Amino acid sequence: MKALTFHGRETIRYEDIEEPVLESPGDVIVRVEACSICGSDLHPYHEREKGLDHGCAMGHEFTGEVVEKGSKVKSLQVGDHVISPFTVSCGSCFYCRRGLSSRCVHSQLFGWRAQGKGLHGGQATYVRVPMADGTLVKRPDGLRDETAILLGDILATGYFCARQSMIDPEGVQAVVGCGPVGLMAIWAARKMGAQRIFALDSVKHRLEWAERWGAVPINYMEEDPLALIRDATDGRGADQVLEVVGLETAVRSAFELVRPGGTLSAVGVCTGTHLPFSPVEAYDQNLTYRIGRCPARSLQTELLKWAQEDADQLATLFTHHLPLGEGVEAYRMFDQKRDQCMKVLLRP
Ligand SMILES: NC(=O)c1ccc[n+]([C@@H]2O[C@H](COP(=O)([O-])OP(=O)(O)OC[C@H]3O[C@@H](n4cnc5c(N)ncnc54)[C@H](O)[C@@H]3O)[C@@H](O)[C@H]2O)c1
Ligand SMILES: [Zn+2]
Ligand SMILES: [Zn+2]
Repeated sequence: MKALTFHGRETIRYEDIEEPVLESPGDVIVRVEACSICGSDLHPYHEREKGLDHGCAMGHEFTGEVVEKGSKVKSLQVGDHVISPFTVSCGSCFYCRRGLSSRCVHSQLFGWRAQGKGLHGGQATYVRVPMADGTLVKRPDGLRDETAILLGDILATGYFCARQSMIDPEGVQAVVGCGPVGLMAIWAARKMGAQRIFALDSVKHRLEWAERWGAVPINYMEEDPLALIRDATDGRGADQVLEVVGLETAVRSAFELVRPGGTLSAVGVCTGTHLPFSPVEAYDQNLTYRIGRCPARSLQTELLKWAQEDADQLATLFTHHLPLGEGVEAYRMFDQKRDQCMKVLLRP
């Protein structure tokens, strides 16, 4: 079968790899109907995240049809179409029962194999899904591929970021980063009633998206976000700041934008070694800092209604629809934000 595989820094290949087989009775094999590239794929792509095996199929955003199932799988049948979160989870451990499926004791990330262990990803013709009963959700009839993919990761992540920031609809929010996840954070904050959201980026077309989706755009290369946000808050700073980039410079500016007693909610995966603010700086701000991997599986049920309501708007995020065979170029375009690329939908 075909897959987009990792072969070192900025090197993705479209090549043949072995088809997955059932490895345990809780597995299913999914035939991928559509998949996408995430900002998180760019971390191993640039080797900011190290240790990914060469030859590993990339990607953790996909949707498709169950074509084979293990003997112990109860909730799914061959022929079912599924939503898959970006990590697998058992559904019954301490963390799964508490809504933190991203920290399931059996958790694994799709598209992450190190030293021969781990899961191949979904940018492929087929993908093996372990613990299918705990991981997968049957797709409601009529749900678009785009919505299913977004629910598996970035819609849930944007929502998670907004939720853990404890949005105050009367307050002022700042969203640092207007990539796909940043836009989803803006969308979710609006759904939670936020009225005054400032959105930071330096890429013009991404700022235009943020504005269309209801935020006040700030090009941080041309304007001073801190001055603008302080002006809007009697000098205090934002009540909630949502960090959706994953670079130290962005975390630093997010920190500076929060008012004393406010919340900094981070979903950006920052591969640096230190937080760019000190304990005493956090102390002096009475900062609430929340960070982590989104428990996309745990959030599926509560998100489905909102996702369906806005399905047409959300699908516009996929600015490019391409065959999987053009995935190598799609990586370059998404990474370099060329051709106004926001998100790419790939079809095997
Ligand atoms: N926590 C989770 O569970 C989870 C899930 C999905 C994605 N992520 C992470 O979310 C982050 C964003 O993902 P994405 O797909 O939107 O990525 P992306 O790379 O497409 O977007 C990042 C955006 O941030 C902008 N940016 C860069 N530096 C900035 C700065 N200093 N200030 C403001 N904006 C800046 C870029 O121009 C870009 O538009 C990544 O780090 C990704 O790994 C985390
Ligand atoms: Zn992702
Ligand atoms: Zn679990």
